[in-house]
Amino acid sequence: MSSDDFYRFVRETQARIDAQEESMYSKKVMREYRDPQNVGRMSKSDGFGEITGPCGDTMEFYLLVNDGYIEDINFWTDGCGPSIACGSITTKLAKSRTVADARSVTKQAVLEALDGLPEESLHCAKLAADTLRKALANYEERNR
Ligand code: FES
Repeated sequence: MSSDDFYRFVRETQARIDAQEESMYSKKVMREYRDPQNVGRMSKSDGFGEITGPCGDTMEFYLLVNDGYIEDINFWTDGCGPSIACGSITTKLAKSRTVADARSVTKQAVLEALDGLPEESLHCAKLAADTLRKALANYEERNR
């Protein structure tokens, strides 16, 4: 196989993968997956939550809180594409809210913000929402 043939093969394979993903997931899921926001671990945080879901993937949330408001929030995951999309949208939904108000970022809220997920990926939204809730609870415990 020449190098031209090889690169054509790679491009065509990638185009097939992209088309398959786009047929399975909403535009919002694809956007959050391809360009996730607020990703990365924080060395210091005011609230931290970590959960490993039944699928074996782990998610972490880090909160920086100022005067009761979530000033900054990051997530990290070793999970699937949908979990990356869910982590990213969850940070966007929670950022700038009060800690109490951020509890309204439920699995359902994550799914609505992403225009849904296929049945087999619904647990990824639950993992993100549950991990956020754990980080909020951790913040509250530290500030009792
Ligand atoms: Fe594990 Fe998506 S498959 S979080």
